[in-house]
Amino acid sequence: MIHLKFNYEQVSNFLDKKQVLSYQQQINEHFNAIRNKTGPGNDFLGWVDLPETMNEAMLKQIEDVAEKLRAKSEIFVVVGIGGSYLGARAIIEALSHHFGMLTGAKGPVVLYAGQNISEDYMSDLLEVLDMKSYSLAVISKSGTTTEPALAFRILKNHLEQKYGQEDARQRIVAITDKERGALKQLADEKGYRTFVVPDDVGGRYSVLTPVGLLPIAVAGFDIRKLVAGARAMRSWVFKKTDIGENPVSAYAAVRNALYGKGFTTEIMVSYEPRLYYLTEWWKQLYGESEGKDHKGIFPAGVGFTTDLHSMGQYIQDGLRNLFETVLSIEKPGSRQLVPGEQADLDGLNYLAGKPIHEINHKAEIGTTLAHVDGGVPNLKVSLPEINETTLGELVFFYEMACAISGYILGVNPFDQPGVEAYKKNMFALLGKPGFEKETEAIKKRI
Ligand code: PA5
Repeated sequence: MIHLKFNYEQVSNFLDKKQVLSYQQQINEHFNAIRNKTGPGNDFLGWVDLPETMNEAMLKQIEDVAEKLRAKSEIFVVVGIGGSYLGARAIIEALSHHFGMLTGAKGPVVLYAGQNISEDYMSDLLEVLDMKSYSLAVISKSGTTTEPALAFRILKNHLEQKYGQEDARQRIVAITDKERGALKQLADEKGYRTFVVPDDVGGRYSVLTPVGLLPIAVAGFDIRKLVAGARAMRSWVFKKTDIGENPVSAYAAVRNALYGKGFTTEIMVSYEPRLYYLTEWWKQLYGESEGKDHKGIFPAGVGFTTDLHSMGQYIQDGLRNLFETVLSIEKPGSRQLVPGEQADLDGLNYLAGKPIHEINHKAEIGTTLAHVDGGVPNLKVSLPEINETTLGELVFFYEMACAISGYILGVNPFDQPGVEAYKKNMFALLGKPGFEKETEAIKKRI
């Protein structure tokens, strides 16, 4: 049984059912292409089988290393960018106490580095790391990405100065390619504990490899349940591909049908602040997978009701090229009731005794209807609650729907050639050896 539900009733003003169902034939073909590894990018389909191939021995290895790191660290730093940190951060933040670092809870606080090149950010991080015990994972599939490499150079030096070579070595885990890249070489030379990013799994599809699982385990969450959730979703979606029954087929069909009608921006909406990084992960997954060949739905994200007071006006009333997908949580963890007051000076007694979630939920329904009335089609992905199992389902659902959706769009959802352009210019501007010709050319433009 799976817990995730997908609902597209609120697109009926914009699409008729026949348009959605017209994708069935090609969806069946795309499922087969994924199953038989015959579509574009088929050498990057390892993620499809991860829920099955992530076996007991691997999970145990990850848990054992995580336990050792937990025991010696108040802080655990994840050094990585894009797919090498967003999946872990999405799951960790979705499961964590909002103010965890102030609760004195057991186990390390997870911080992030190598996801920007801000000197201020690094200085502040080092200031904190001077005061606390810490360990880190440096994660880069290619092993050559500038942002994490730079952050790692600084943190490695910091660790070595703080703890000495040997203790520092035991506080570093490298997650990278099995044989290529500067990080692999460095890890071998220094004798770091390493985990492999499988060749056939791209960064943004790597949450269920050690890339995501090690940090999630260090944060204290149950990676077995996460993988089990993904496994349940995997077996469900491969059973029957009917749009009427399969949430992956339905989501892929509806978003492409909307795109065909000029709805070129999809906004992921959530009413739970803990899902902020899940939205960031989703944005990368869909943006990097679909945005190519001058095509693709632009993935955006908002957190309501907060952003109703900043982006709400545009969504209700601006350019009509938007549709929303609400990630709805039926039953959040805790129950806080609105207190009653005798004087009722703020006029809120009509809410007295109601759980805050109920108010949030009514805001969700009211907003959905208002946006539909304003011309914004609305899709809904719902989970009964946020836990490792439901998040595992969600991860596999979004990955699979992204692959099918990308194939419908006619792109290779597993490459990212466009990411290289900024790097070439940056290297030319920084005078990286091998970029002399580009340096000359770029100097003339600035
Ligand atoms: O999804 C992807 O492939 C990218 O976002 C990468 O994860 C990101 O660029 C980081 O690459 P690497 O892990 O090689 O450092």
